[in-house]
Amino acid sequence: MDDVWQNAMDHAVAVARKAGQVVREALHNTQKDAVMVKSSSVDLVTQTDQKVEQLIIQSVKEKFPTHCFIGEESVAAGEVCVLTDRPTWIIDPIDGTTNFVHTYPFVAVSIGFSVNKQVEFGVVYSCLQDQMYTARRGRGAFCNGEPLQVSHQRDIHQAIIAVEFGSNREAQTVDKIFSSLKKIVSIPVHGVRGAGSAAINMCLVASGCVEAYYEIGIHVWDVAASSLIVSEAGGILMDVEGGPFDLMSRRVLAANNQSIAERLVKEIDSFCPLRDDAPLAQ
Ligand code: IPD
Ligand code: CA
Repeated sequence: MDDVWQNAMDHAVAVARKAGQVVREALHNTQKDAVMVKSSSVDLVTQTDQKVEQLIIQSVKEKFPTHCFIGEESVAAGEVCVLTDRPTWIIDPIDGTTNFVHTYPFVAVSIGFSVNKQVEFGVVYSCLQDQMYTARRGRGAFCNGEPLQVSHQRDIHQAIIAVEFGSNREAQTVDKIFSSLKKIVSIPVHGVRGAGSAAINMCLVASGCVEAYYEIGIHVWDVAASSLIVSEAGGILMDVEGGPFDLMSRRVLAANNQSIAERLVKEIDSFCPLRDDAPLAQ
């Protein structure tokens, strides 16, 4: 299947670039998109998210008509979110929609491709930085063609950790996010950062700029592509409680090495959002 998957990956890169162009034009357009909300008043979506997802799906369908899709906006519109063994394109048309709405310059198109529930390639295009991150399973990770390597830092005190606040603002959730953050800042680490895009945070781990990133509440489309970019750059993925990373669990911890990851696990107050593949309530 080598050539077929390579063909698919080449197509993903081309369509991500095209999608990125649409995102850039929309971001600079003075006639701003209407902003709509989804699961909460801070979970945003625009017509550009929807338009870009359709553009990607249509273009892939023409070339690979038998493949399956999990797309953020298609799921929001009622499509099922189930990962099967079949070749599946996992798409976030705009990762960092809040950034997009505010013209904060970290916005990515994320396309992962899985077969037998294993990610075979990942493409994350940070469209305002014009950085194309790519990885194929077993073949390394790259940014604009240059190989990526995670940081060699083993001392948590000298680490930068990427974090996000997500879009769940229920008091109990916010308390857990802040208590974890307080413990991590107090280790102390060199600093905490957050790009406002899970995919870009993961690519920063892969690039060695930050040692780790964790979040509870992300979705499969936020991290499918970038999870492979991290592991192909020599990093590791695990659950925030230390078990194996599960794509559909809505929890991720990506780190440059096991010891940094395990140290963070000790400080994270975890919780369990509804899984991406949970059966829908009737
Ligand atoms: C969001 C971003 C954000 C993260 C949220 C994601 P979206 O994705 O990745 O950084 O904190 O959990 O849902 O909505 O911009 O595609
Ligand atoms: Ca999105």
